[in-house]
Amino acid sequence: MKYMGSKRYMLNNGLGMLIKKRIIDYNRFVDLFCGAGYVSYFVAENFSLPVLASDLQVYATTLTGAVIERTSVVNTDKLESVWINIAEGALKKSELYKRAKLVESRNVNKIEILVKKSRLLCGSTKSNIGPIWKAYGGHYFSPTQALAIDYLIKNIPSKSKVERTLCLAALVDAASKCVASPGHTAQPFQPTHGAKKFLYQSWQLDLFQETKEALKKLSQLKAQRRGRVVTCAAEDLIGQLSSRDLIFIDPPYSGVQYSRFYHVLETIARKQCGLVEGVGRYPSLVERPQSAYSNKSTSGEVLKNLMEKIARKKASVIFTFPNKECSNGLSGKTIKEIVKTWFHIEEECIHGYFSTLGGNNKKDNRPYRQKSEELLLFLKPR
Ligand SMILES: C[S@@+](CC[C@H](N)C(=O)[O-])C[C@H]1O[C@@H](n2cnc3c(N)ncnc32)[C@H](O)[C@@H]1O
Repeated sequence: MKYMGSKRYMLNNGLGMLIKKRIIDYNRFVDLFCGAGYVSYFVAENFSLPVLASDLQVYATTLTGAVIERTSVVNTDKLESVWINIAEGALKKSELYKRAKLVESRNVNKIEILVKKSRLLCGSTKSNIGPIWKAYGGHYFSPTQALAIDYLIKNIPSKSKVERTLCLAALVDAASKCVASPGHTAQPFQPTHGAKKFLYQSWQLDLFQETKEALKKLSQLKAQRRGRVVTCAAEDLIGQLSSRDLIFIDPPYSGVQYSRFYHVLETIARKQCGLVEGVGRYPSLVERPQSAYSNKSTSGEVLKNLMEKIARKKASVIFTFPNKECSNGLSGKTIKEIVKTWFHIEEECIHGYFSTLGGNNKKDNRPYRQKSEELLLFLKPR
């Protein structure tokens, strides 16, 4: 999936090599800010040691846990029939589905009217199935897509935790692909001259098909050793660390909260949502985890505290951060100043890459590509 600050590209560009070189000296890999989980997946799949991963957000630990907490591949034929096909069957029998289909089929090629009527339908009718219809139908998703997500959430098999997490992760992944927004979910596409074709393209995607594909893809990934995820602040895991741990630190660099960019995925993972507001359809702050790392006035202090506590545990660290000054007030230079008090910088390099998220190309609303540099450090406690 597309994720702001994902290190997927970097695993083939320096980070993967550094992990491979250093990991043999440790008993466990700890991904404190796991995000979409790519680094945790890489370690869990390729090395015979457990991964412990944390993030403030439930969708992040769901995506990560779906792979690192499982040591065998899953046959998805049964899951497709007991979950996706059942959800699809129930959806198609529902009254709301018929009304949604009617709105969508009558307004093909009239996107402004389609959007207006979809918002009216989802806003004025009550669904007891799930939170997506009311919160995001007609905005981030077409009415039928919103209802499909609600039916998929409601029908997730509940017996086995492994299957539950895998299904929910597949749904988060599929929803992130279908969502009508430019890469993240801070704001949906509007039916403007430039953006309406992208909105329409997203609304045409088949949620059930995308979920089947995401399920197949995720089910084939597995850990060599069973790991664990925890939804919490990185600071809260420090008590569990030791000198046998290799810690990966990839903290937020944006002065805007991740929970503002990804509330749609968070709602799906939490399976609930209160009232939403604004063009972005944001749930209340209570439902959007707030990070001190995304606040310019606290980011430096909270990072200092974290690094001091990790050094006291005598754990080693791989740290990545954009080299330039970022909107949360930190930069490659300030990171080095902070860590030097408690760590020796044993390796330091800078890798160039293209960032595909973080803003819009004004002309067509698609994510644009920007050249950036990432600092990569290996740190040993003093
Ligand atoms: C740069 S992203 C990590 C990307 C990830 N390495 C990947 O490749 O997908 C930073 C992550 O830190 C999480 N986060 C923010 N504050 C946190 C905190 N105090 N503790 C743990 N995670 C936090 C955010 O939710 C976000 O997912």
